[in-house]
Amino acid sequence: MDKIRIRGGRALNGTIPIAGAKNAALPLMCASLLTDGALRLANVPDLADIRMLTQLLAQHGVLVGRDGGTGEMVMTAARIASTEAPYDIVRKMRASVLVLGPLLARCGRARVSQPGGCAIGSRPVDIHLTGLRALGADVDLIDGYIEASAPRGLTGGLVTFPFPSVGATENVMMAAALARGETVIENAAKEPEIVDLAACLVAMGSTIEGAGTSRMVIQGRDRLHGASHRVLADRIETGTYLMAAAVTGGEVELTGTSIALVSAAVEKMREAGVTVTGTDQGIRVHRRNGPLTGIDVVTEPHPGFPTDLQAQMMAMLTVADGASLITENIFENRFMHVPELCRLGADINVHGASAVVRGVKRLSGAPVMATDLRASVSLVIAALAADGETEINRVYHLDRGYERLEQKLAACGADVERVAA
Ligand code: EPZ
Repeated sequence: MDKIRIRGGRALNGTIPIAGAKNAALPLMCASLLTDGALRLANVPDLADIRMLTQLLAQHGVLVGRDGGTGEMVMTAARIASTEAPYDIVRKMRASVLVLGPLLARCGRARVSQPGGCAIGSRPVDIHLTGLRALGADVDLIDGYIEASAPRGLTGGLVTFPFPSVGATENVMMAAALARGETVIENAAKEPEIVDLAACLVAMGSTIEGAGTSRMVIQGRDRLHGASHRVLADRIETGTYLMAAAVTGGEVELTGTSIALVSAAVEKMREAGVTVTGTDQGIRVHRRNGPLTGIDVVTEPHPGFPTDLQAQMMAMLTVADGASLITENIFENRFMHVPELCRLGADINVHGASAVVRGVKRLSGAPVMATDLRASVSLVIAALAADGETEINRVYHLDRGYERLEQKLAACGADVERVAA
C-alpha cells in the first residue's frame, strides 16, 4: 500500500487547478442508465471511485468510453444487460446505490446489494427506499440485497424526506424522471451537486423546478434522450486546498472553481483570519499576518458548513491562536482523524458530537494512518504545517477523492512524495 511522505513547514505559493466534483460525477454517470442515447460528460475527474463506478455500469451494459478529442466521458446504455449491482462492487463504494433509482425506472426492477456502513457511520438507505416506495415500487430487503420492482412502471407522487439526504434525493430524482406524472420532493437536499444533476436531467428531456430548494417538482417522461453536460467544480477539493494554503501561510489561486460553491466555508475561514477573494479564474487565498484565530464550526446540510470539510477545517485550526469548538451533526463517527492529528501534536478532545481543539504553536511530523477519504486529507493539511517529516499510510483513501494531489501541492512548493510501500 502506497504512502505519502511530507516534510512540512513550507508555505504554499502558486496556482492549483480544481477538478470536476466526484460527488456530482457519480450520480451523473448513473443517469446514463435512464436513456438508450449517449450521455456525454465533460470535466469528469480521474479518481478511483469514478473507475469503480465505470466497472459497475459496464456490467449493467453501459458502454463507457472517452472522446479522444474532447476528453469527454461518453456513456451509452442502449440495452441493460443486468439489473443486479453485486455486493463485491457495492461494498467497496457506497455510491453504487445510486444505480437503484435509474435501473428501477428504466427496467421496472433492480437488485442492489445493501451498501452497508463505512468508517464514518452506519450509512443506512431507509430514506432512499421510502422515497422509491412513494413512487409505487415494491421494495424489500432480502439476503443483504435491496429487491425493488415496479412491473407496471413508476407513478409520480409526493415524497417527503425526514432528513435532506443527498443520495436519496438523487435516487428519487432519477426514478421520478421516468415515472408517470408529477413527483414532488419535500425536504429535498439542496447541495450544488443536486442542482447539477437536475440540469443534466433537464438536458436529457426532463422538466424539473425547484432544484437547490427544499421543494423540487419533477415531471416524468416516457423516455429521456442523450445529452452533453459539464460536471461542476469540486467544492470539497476547493475547500481542502483553501485550508491547506491558509495553514501553511502562503498565497494560492485556485482555478476552475468559484467562491459561490464554498460560501459557508469561506465565511468561517475569514472569521479565522484568512483572506479569501473571488477572482476571474476562481479564488485567491492567503493568511493575513499573524496566527489564525480559533472559531466555532457546526456541520449542517447545505447551505450550512459541509461535513466533508470538517476534518480539513479541524486540521487548519490545530495551530490557531485559541480554542475552537467543532460540532459534527451529519455523521455519527466522523472524528477518526482526531487521534491521528494528536499524534502530530494537536490538542483535541472529543465530547460526543463535538471536539474541542486547543491551538498549539507547532505540530511535529510523525507516521500516521489514513482512515477515510476526508480524514486522510486532513492529515495531509496538518503534515504541511508540521515541523519535520510525516508519513501517511493507507493513502488509497486519498486516491478515491483527490486527483494528482501530490503534483498539485508540489507545484506550489510543498515537499511531498508518494512512496510505494
Ligand atoms: C453524500 O453522501 C456524499 N457522497 C458524502 O460525501 C457527503 O458527506 C454526504 O452526501 C452529506 O453531504 C456522495 O455524494 C457520493 P446523505 P450520502 O444521504 O448521500 C443519514 C465524501 O467524503 N441517512 O446526505 O450518503 C446518513 O447516515 C462523502 O465525498 C439516513 O439515515 O449522504 C447520514 O448520517 C462522504 N438514511 C446523513 O443522513 C438514508 O437513507 C447524511 O447522509 C440516507 C442517509
